[in-house]
Formats: sequence, C-alpha cells, structure tokens
Amino acid sequence: MQMKFRSNKKLVAIAFFTIMVSGGVAAIRAPRFQPRNLKVLPQDISEQKLDSIMHSYCYSLGVECKFCHAGIDGNKNNLDFASDKEPMKENARSMITMMIDINKRYFWYDTTKQAAYLNTVDCYTCHRGEELPPDNSKPRTNKPVDKKPLFPFGGK
Ligand code: HEC
Ligand code: HEC
Repeated sequence: MQMKFRSNKKLVAIAFFTIMVSGGVAAIRAPRFQPRNLKVLPQDISEQKLDSIMHSYCYSLGVECKFCHAGIDGNKNNLDFASDKEPMKENARSMITMMIDINKRYFWYDTTKQAAYLNTVDCYTCHRGEELPPDNSKPRTNKPVDKKPLFPFGGK
C-alpha cells in the first residue's frame, strides 16, 4: 500500500515535469512576433519598438489608435491593425516616409541607428499634440506650447 502510494507520487512528479518541459519547448518554438503589413517601417522591427512608435504617434497628434486604424467590420472598438481600409493610415505612411527622409538626409549623426529610428525631427516637432499642426502664420494669442519630453521613439 505504502509502495503504491509512493509510485503514484512519482508518477505525478514525472507528469508535472513533462508538462513543464513541453510547455517550455512550446514557448521557445512559438513564432516570433511578425508584423504583417509594414510598407515603411523596418520589417524586422520588434513588437516593443513598434508599440513605442505607435504610442508616439498618438501622443504627437493627440489621437487614439483608431484615428489611423480600421475596425474589424467597421467596429472601431476592435481594431485590425494590419488592414489598410482606414485612409488616414496612408496619410500617416507618407508622413513617416517624409520624416525618415528628413532625418536621414540632414540629421543622421548616429549611423549605428536605422534611419527609421532617427528622431531629430519627429511627428511632435510639427504636430505639437494636434491632428493638424498649429497654424504658425497667425499671431500667437495663447501661450507657446510647453515642450514636453518627446515620447521615446526607439523604446524606453
Ligand atoms: C498617425 C497614425 C497612426 C496611429 C495614431 C497609430 N498607428 Fe499603428 N500604424 C500606422 C501605420 C501608418 C502603420 C503601417 C506602417 C508601415 O506601413 O510600415 C501602422 C501599423 C501598426 C501595426 C502593425 C500591423 C501589421 O501587422 O501590419 C500595429 C500592431 C499598430 N500599428 C498598432 C497601433 C496601436 C496599438 C496604436 C495605438 C496605440 C496605433 N497603431 C496608432 C499608423 C498609426
Ligand atoms: C515637417 C512637419 C511635419 C512632420 C515632421 C509631420 N507632419 Fe504630419 N502633417 C504636417 C502638416 C503641415 C499637415 C497638414 C497637411 C495638410 O493640411 O494638408 C500634416 C498632416 C498629417 C496627417 C493628416 C491629418 C488629417 O486630419 O488629415 C497625419 C495623419 C499626419 N500628419 C501624421 C504624421 C505622423 C504620423 C508624423 C510622424 C511620423 C508626422 N505627421 C510628421 C506636418 C508634419
């Protein structure tokens, strides 16, 4: 009786061990994050960096993700980030392309960084937290914009 109890315990331990190991192997084998529809940002971008950049867009323009991203079946509470159905996404792509071009041409001091991750000029430089950059041709009636620290473009 005592023996049987012990071997059951052993079995449980072996089963537990097997589950842990196979779980670990599954985690290692799990596919790396793969963005599916990137036309201007680097294909090998990490999930963390993509997330950081997307948040910087929201902060710079004073908008939410749904401003540029289409909803699944038009439902903006459930976004399909890879979809190109929201035309604002294409506007943003041309802005990103412009920004990469400006930084690469005139401000590529740190050549160890990929051009897409340069942020001497970034969305906030012009947008100042607004969808459309403030009109500088009008005399300023309000206080100048407080320059907040920029959202870190290349991760924290
Ligand atoms: C100002 C517009 C804009 C805002 C706001 C924005 N995005 Fe994006 N997002 C884009 C663009 C443009 C792309 C595609 C970039 C490219 O083509 O290289 C993209 C791509 C993505 C992708 C990759 C999708 C894929 O699989 O191809 C994810 C994920 C994503 N955004 C998440 C977010 C999240 C989360 C937010 C809110 C925190 C957000 N975005 C806010 C413009 C925006
Ligand atoms: C050099 C200044 C400058 C920079 C840098 C810049 N923008 Fe813009 N952006 C503008 C101007 C100016 C407009 C308005 C254009 C117009 O009125 O047709 C605009 C318009 C837009 C619009 C369209 C908004 C709307 O409501 O139609 C989006 C989206 C946008 N920018 C996203 C971005 C993103 C994302 C970045 C950073 C990757 C960025 N912009 C960087 C100047 C800039």
